[in-house]
Amino acid sequence: MKKNTTKNTLLKENTTENTLLKIENLNKQYKSLFKSFLALKNINCKFNQGEIWGLIGNNGAGKTTLIKSIIGGLNFEGRITISGYNHDTKEAKKYISYIPEKATFPQGYSVKKYLLEISFLSGENKKEEAIKKIEYYLKYLEIYELINKKPYKLSSGQQKKILLIQALLSNPKLIIMDEPVANLDPSTRYNFFRLLKKINKNKKTSILISSHILAELENFIDGIIILKNGEIVAQRKMKKAEDLVSFYNKKLNIKTKRNNYE
Ligand SMILES: Nc1ncnc2c1ncn2[C@@H]1O[C@H](COP(=O)(O)OP(=O)(O)OP(=O)(O)O)[C@@H](O)[C@H]1O
Ligand SMILES: [Mg+2]
Repeated sequence: MKKNTTKNTLLKENTTENTLLKIENLNKQYKSLFKSFLALKNINCKFNQGEIWGLIGNNGAGKTTLIKSIIGGLNFEGRITISGYNHDTKEAKKYISYIPEKATFPQGYSVKKYLLEISFLSGENKKEEAIKKIEYYLKYLEIYELINKKPYKLSSGQQKKILLIQALLSNPKLIIMDEPVANLDPSTRYNFFRLLKKINKNKKTSILISSHILAELENFIDGIIILKNGEIVAQRKMKKAEDLVSFYNKKLNIKTKRNNYE
């Protein structure tokens, strides 16, 4: 298979001014000793600065694989650019924050110390400013009381909130999230989406979010990509007051009856 040929290229492609993320002819094959599996097949999509896109699909559809390809965690065939820069370059990486499906935290750090380190690594050099920002987000997400706890000892929902704060501290152009709300309680999910919407509005931060919670996603996203078994089966802007569950079921040929398990 042809490798990602533009790796380490610093050349900036001439894109339409507003295009933030562009994926062209992406194929991803997982290989082991005796077999190979094509997890993503000819993926092409793009979206603009300031937009929020939802990435949905059945278990195993390829959402995490696509996200890992964008953030530079996998080899693939094809091309991904962020603001015209190849996704693997320093420039492109500066623009992206990523919230993974599962969190891992260093053991010796408290929440405060961990987030402070992240702030400094992201270029913040005023400690008071960094603390102000960290405290604001901790209060907003209703976990201020955890400030001196160790992140690795927190519940998975609490850890997701720490990851979100971590992602926000570097002022990214694009936040990529892989099922960030899966284990958040309903009121926290609401606050989580509200905070993201606010950041999107105020800072024009783009968001790519994968989730199975479609009813909440439909009020939040501008556009939708639906993956089925490694292929894009739908890709378009959302319509006003659209019923995403019906659209998704139609695209995946799912016939459901509400609350009927007989
Ligand atoms: N490291 C790997 N080696 C081989 N196959 C893999 C690997 N990681 C994922 N796959 C396969 O690739 C396909 C896509 O997996 P992926 O994790 O991207 O799906 P997903 O859409 O994120 O699913 P979910 O909704 O369950 O999180 C699956 O069939 C999976 O078994
Ligand atoms: Mg996944």
